[in-house]
Amino acid sequence: MKALVLAGGSGSRLRPITHTSSKQLVPVANKPILFYGLESIAAAGITDVGVIVGSTAPEIEAAVGDGSAFGLTVTYIPQSEPLGLAHAVLIAESFLGDDDFVMYLGDNFVLDGITDVVEEFRKDPRDAQVLLTRVNNPTAFGVAVTDDNGNVLVLEEKPRKPRSDLAVAGVYLFTAAVHEAVRAVEPSPRGELEITDALQWMIDQGMEVRSTVITGYWKDTGNVTDMLEVNRTLLERLEPCVNGYVDEESEIIGRVRIEAGAEVRRSRIVGPVIIGAGSVVSDSYVGPSTSVAENCRISHSEIEYSIVLRESSFDRIRRVAASLVGRNVKVAVAPGLPATHRLVIGDHGHVQLSS
Ligand code: DAU
Repeated sequence: MKALVLAGGSGSRLRPITHTSSKQLVPVANKPILFYGLESIAAAGITDVGVIVGSTAPEIEAAVGDGSAFGLTVTYIPQSEPLGLAHAVLIAESFLGDDDFVMYLGDNFVLDGITDVVEEFRKDPRDAQVLLTRVNNPTAFGVAVTDDNGNVLVLEEKPRKPRSDLAVAGVYLFTAAVHEAVRAVEPSPRGELEITDALQWMIDQGMEVRSTVITGYWKDTGNVTDMLEVNRTLLERLEPCVNGYVDEESEIIGRVRIEAGAEVRRSRIVGPVIIGAGSVVSDSYVGPSTSVAENCRISHSEIEYSIVLRESSFDRIRRVAASLVGRNVKVAVAPGLPATHRLVIGDHGHVQLSS
């Protein structure tokens, strides 16, 4: 069995972060979201992985390399434009051949991994199988109607009037029967070749599409709110450990990981929190559910429930919360009078000030 990981796309809901960086590489608990998927694939015993890459190909290839760090052999498959999930399968046909494969959306997070569902498919394959999960906003997803045995009867992509609350989570298992299906479908109103339409085509041809409803934690990290929520969930499971320097005037409470080379001075850190290598926190408060990446500077500031990417700094900034801060960002107090907000923010930036 092979795997096809989708790491192309545009990431429009994560702008401006995705103007300069791939959405699948945004770190949660200081590790790119994509890596958790690759680890799940390796844990399920799959080694041969095709990775679909788009305009951020160089960055993805630099991060994932040949896959050996994950115990995988990775083949990159360039996609000229994000023309849809079924288009990704179409262009991967020569890599996939006649093999069964698991398709994994690179911005999805499945806490319990995919080992069980891959095992089920290996032992008792259908033409296709999808992971489903109950959601309270089905209009944002592919939505399935199933019979009592879990066979999928109908699939609709982001329906305005959903016929169930069962959303398609970003994990699909296919036999080679899918190749005919992705060739048969036409672009949807949003201009994409939809994998939901390909699956519906398979059902209409009398093929069997089975579903597994996952009860464990799953998230599509396409937006900031979900990204922060996955970060919180992962930090709850963090192995606490202080490898960096913490001075005697600092207080470390709860599940906190301070990486080697990080420094904490005259500060209060209330976990779960991770502070990346080379970062310096001084005279500050870092509160629950916060990931600070490598080489950041936080001084005389307060931050909680946030993700800060590498090489960014906060100086004399109080009560930052629910924030996603990109790489190399500087947040400081404007000098001089009158007291003003002075902003240099990238396109599609989003700022909410307390006053
Ligand atoms: O997250 C689950 C949902 O994923 C499903 O419920 C939907 O049925 C499915 O269509 C998909 O919807 P999204 O609109 O969230 O898909 P998105 O455009 O975010 O793409 C998912 C991943 O695939 C993301 O990592 C980017 C990548 N991608 C996407 C497209 C359209 C590609 O690599 N190539 C593409 O052409």
